[in-house]
Amino acid sequence: MKSGHVPVLVREVVATLEPRPGGAYIDCTVGGGGHAEAILEAAGPSSRLVGIDRDAAALPVARDRLRRFGDRVRLIRGDFRELPRLVSALEPEGFDGILFDLGVSSLQLDDPSRGLSFSMEGPLDMRMDRESGTPSARELLHTLPEENLTRIIREYGEDRWARQIARGIVAARRHGSLETTRDLAAVAARAIPRRFWPRRIHPATRTFQAMRIAVNQELEGLEGALDGAIRLLHAGGRIGVIAFHSLEDRVVKHLFRRLAAAEAAPGVTIVTRRPMTPSPEERAQNPRARSAKLRVAERRI
Ligand SMILES: C[S@@+](CC[C@H](N)C(=O)[O-])C[C@H]1O[C@@H](n2cnc3c(N)ncnc32)[C@H](O)[C@@H]1O
Repeated sequence: MKSGHVPVLVREVVATLEPRPGGAYIDCTVGGGGHAEAILEAAGPSSRLVGIDRDAAALPVARDRLRRFGDRVRLIRGDFRELPRLVSALEPEGFDGILFDLGVSSLQLDDPSRGLSFSMEGPLDMRMDRESGTPSARELLHTLPEENLTRIIREYGEDRWARQIARGIVAARRHGSLETTRDLAAVAARAIPRRFWPRRIHPATRTFQAMRIAVNQELEGLEGALDGAIRLLHAGGRIGVIAFHSLEDRVVKHLFRRLAAAEAAPGVTIVTRRPMTPSPEERAQNPRARSAKLRVAERRI
């Protein structure tokens, strides 16, 4: 993510989190620091922000972008699923606002060595946290039984050609032709009959999304992480979540609805009746924003 990169739905994030002077904020997915910068700018003097990311490569980029805010910013490498352990000692009174901008960053997508893009040759890695020692996409693609690959591509990619693609993966690994992102893209393209190729996206898009979600275990523990974050807000504090696919967005929507009905803490009021989506201008300027949905809730009790 180059410095100056424009974050997704940034105007909407600022308008709904309503950052204020003296406020304390967490950006749970700080990435290149775009949203963090906008929050600190809007909040003004004496506001503070903790930025978290599981990708060691993101933090120097964020540090650079947020340098001018000095010690009002604290950056921590970690997984937001461990949020209470990472931040609870920092603001005993609770936080005013917490943001999650889920998924991968442009910094990660545009680096061929991360293996996240089907349009650039690279190794089949896909891990956001390469130091975690967890299996890469190559390990999963080369070891999982065909049924498991089918399930991953069907559930996480919502691809109706999951079975055919999984069969193609198993055949390719047997022939020794499944080592790079281009190899995987070619398998997906071959498995889907050309007349059924999706119109606006590459035929491998869903397979890549599915494998990335599986490699990074993106849905495991998401609800718990959001619930944990809400508990770190004081009453009146707000949480904003940007999701990029329906599986994530469903988790956010259901949790907010459940907590909106709760009579015991933590309970919330939903701020965005419907999710906010990018304007036509934003969509035109940043095609990656197309599928983004922002939901915001305010802690009530
Ligand atoms: C869409 S990007 C965020 C971009 C950021 N909002 C900006 O303005 O530059 C998502 C970031 O969240 C990080 N991430 C994803 N899952 C995470 C997790 N469980 N814990 C911590 N960071 C995570 C990724 O490494 C990535 O840098």
